[in-house]
Amino acid sequence: MAEETITSMLEERRKFAPPRNETAHIASMEQYAQWRARFEADREGAWRELALEHLHWQQPFTRVLNRERPPFFRWFEDGYLNVSENCLDRHVAAGHGARTAIIWEGEPGEVRRISYAELLAEVCRAANALKQLGIEAGDRVVIYMPMIPEAAVAMLACTRIGAVHSVVFGAFSAQALRDRIEDAQAKLVITADGGWRRGAVHDLKSKVDQALDGGGNSVRHVLVVRRGGNKVAWKPERDLDWQEVLCVESDVCPPARLNAEHPLFILYTSGSTGKPKGILHTTAGYLLWARLTMLWSFDFHAGRDVFWCTADIGWITGHTYSVYGPLACGGTTLMYEGVPTFPDPGRLWQICAAHDVTIFYTAPTAIRALIKAGDEWPARHDLSSLRVLGTVGEPINPEAWMWYYTVIGQRRCPIVDTWWQTETGGHMIAPLPFATPTKPGSATLPLPGIEADVVDGDGKSIAEGGGLLVIREPWPSMLRGIWGDEQRYLETYWRKFDGRFYFAGDGARRDEDGYIWIMGRVDDVLNVSGHRLGTMEIESALVAHEAVAEAAVVGRPDEVKGESICAFVVLKQGTPDEALRQALKRHVGEVIGAIAKPDEIRFAEALPKTRSGKIMRRLLRDIAAGREIRQDISTLEDAAVVRRLLEDQQG
Ligand code: WTA
Repeated sequence: MAEETITSMLEERRKFAPPRNETAHIASMEQYAQWRARFEADREGAWRELALEHLHWQQPFTRVLNRERPPFFRWFEDGYLNVSENCLDRHVAAGHGARTAIIWEGEPGEVRRISYAELLAEVCRAANALKQLGIEAGDRVVIYMPMIPEAAVAMLACTRIGAVHSVVFGAFSAQALRDRIEDAQAKLVITADGGWRRGAVHDLKSKVDQALDGGGNSVRHVLVVRRGGNKVAWKPERDLDWQEVLCVESDVCPPARLNAEHPLFILYTSGSTGKPKGILHTTAGYLLWARLTMLWSFDFHAGRDVFWCTADIGWITGHTYSVYGPLACGGTTLMYEGVPTFPDPGRLWQICAAHDVTIFYTAPTAIRALIKAGDEWPARHDLSSLRVLGTVGEPINPEAWMWYYTVIGQRRCPIVDTWWQTETGGHMIAPLPFATPTKPGSATLPLPGIEADVVDGDGKSIAEGGGLLVIREPWPSMLRGIWGDEQRYLETYWRKFDGRFYFAGDGARRDEDGYIWIMGRVDDVLNVSGHRLGTMEIESALVAHEAVAEAAVVGRPDEVKGESICAFVVLKQGTPDEALRQALKRHVGEVIGAIAKPDEIRFAEALPKTRSGKIMRRLLRDIAAGREIRQDISTLEDAAVVRRLLEDQQG
C-alpha cells in the first residue's frame, strides 16, 4: 500500500485558504497540536468555549457535560436553543437574507436557488402547517422524499417546533418504511408523489400507501409534495397536498425554545441483528459538531464556498453535510435530485462547473465508478472552482485517492478522507485540509476534541499496528441511544470494553506516524457502495420467502462497490434455478429495498456450522471471495458441506 505523504503542495494549497478567525480554521499542525493540548488541559472548558461561540443560545448553558450515568451522557443540559433559528434566523438577522442557502438541480435539469430569507419563510409556513396538523414537540415525523428542497424544509420545520424527524431513504421498500414508521410511532409522514431517477419518475406515494395499508396505525396524516407529477391514489381524510396546506399559512413562526438535549432526529441504520437501530441525536451537541466539522475539515467559508455533498438526505451524511452543517454556517449547499451518472458519466462534473462548486464530497464507490467511465468526462468540464475534495463511507483505495487528487483536484485540492458514522453525528477522524499532510488511503488523525484510539481485545492501546477503533471520551454529537432500546445501546457500543469507551465496530491500523487507517467493519455489517446493510437483515428477508429454509449472507470484495452481497441459501422447496434466484433477489428488494438485493445467490444443501451450531461466516466469506480455505474445517458439523460448496465454485 502506498504510504506516500502528500506534503509538497501544502504551501501552494494554503493560498486557497485565506486566514480567518482562529476557532473556525486550523491552519497548521502547530495549531492542531495547540488544540489537542487545550483539550487535554481542560476538556470541558474547550467545549464550553466552542459551544458558546459557535451556537446561538436562547439561554446559555452553565453545565458542559453531565457524566453521572455513563454511557448516557448529557451535553450543555441546562441550555436552550433552536436548530432552525441557528440555521436560518441567525443569518438573516446578520444581514445575509439574500445569500443563497440552497442551490438545487433537478435530474431533468431545472435549477432553483433559495435564499436564506426565502428558506426561513418557507420553513415557517411548513412549521405552522405541522402545528395545524396537531404535531407537537417530541412527536415523530417520518420524511420519505426525493432530494428536493422541500425535504430540507420539512426537516427544518420539524426542528422549528421540536418535532423529531426520521428520514427514510427513498429507495427503501414499503415494508422497510412501515417498520420504521411503527418503531418510531410517527404521527405524520411527509412524502412526494415521486422524484426523478435515471430519466423516469420514481413513485414514492404508492409506497407510503402500501406501508400504511398494512400497519403504521400511529400515522394520522400524509403530506404530499408534488414533484414527479405522477398519478397517485388519494385518501381525502388522510392525505394533504403540501402546496395547498402551506399557501394558507403565515410565514412567521417563532422558533420553539428547546432544551439542548431535546431529541432532534432518529435515523435508522443497520446493525448486526435483523432489526435496524433508530439512532437518536439531540439538539445542541449535534449542531455544534455539524458546524465545527464544516469549518475544520472542509475549511468551509460561508458566502464564498459552494458546498456539494452528493449523499441523499436518507443517510447521516446527507443530514449533517447537505443540510445542517452548511446551513449552521450560513453557507450555500447544493442538492441534486438524480442519479450521478445520468444522462452520462459527466453529470457530476457538469453540475460542479455550472454552479462553481468549491468543495465536493462524495463516496469512494462513486469515484471508482467515475474512474471506470474514463478521464474524458471530467476533461469536458471546467473544474477550476474546486478547492477541497472529500470522501466518506468506506475505505478509499490509494489508486482511487490518487485519481481524485490528480484528475479531479489537479493536485491543487486537498483530499479529506473523513471517517465517521451515523452514531457519531459528524466527522471524527479526518485531515485538516490546509494543515495535515495526507497519505492516500488514510483518514489521518482525530479532529481536536476527539479521543480516537486503536486498541487490542482487552482495550489496551496499540501504538503501532492493527486493532479495534474506539473513542475514549464522550463528544457532543455522539448518539444518545437507540430509540426505545436502551439495552441494545449498551450492548452494541459499550459492553465490549465494560463501558470504558465507545466501540465503533470498525477495525483500524495505526502507522508509525500515528495515522489511522480504517480497515472495515468487524461485525456483521456490510458496506455496499458506502451504504450500511446488516447481513442479518438480508438473511431475515430471505428466510421470509416460502422457498427458503436457511440463509447466510456475507460480503465479497468488489472493485467498484467496495463490497458486494453474496447469499448462501438452503431451500425447503422449489428448484434451485435461475428463475428462483431472480425471484429471491426481487423479494429482498421488496422487503428492504433495491440496495439490499444480493449480487449473487448460491444454493447450498446445508450451511457450514460449528458443532455448537454457529454458521461459519468467515469460511463463507472466503468461499464467496474465491480465496483459498486455510481454516481447519474439522470442527464442522458436516465437512462435506464445505467440500460441496468448494466444488460448486470450481464447477
Ligand atoms: C465506514 C457514514 C473507511 C465505517 C458516515 C463506519 C469508513 C461506517 C469511512 C459508518 C472512511 C465511514 N473510511 N470507512 N472514511 N467513513 N466508513 O453509519 O465502516 O452509514 O463504521 O456513516 O462506514 O457508516 P454510516
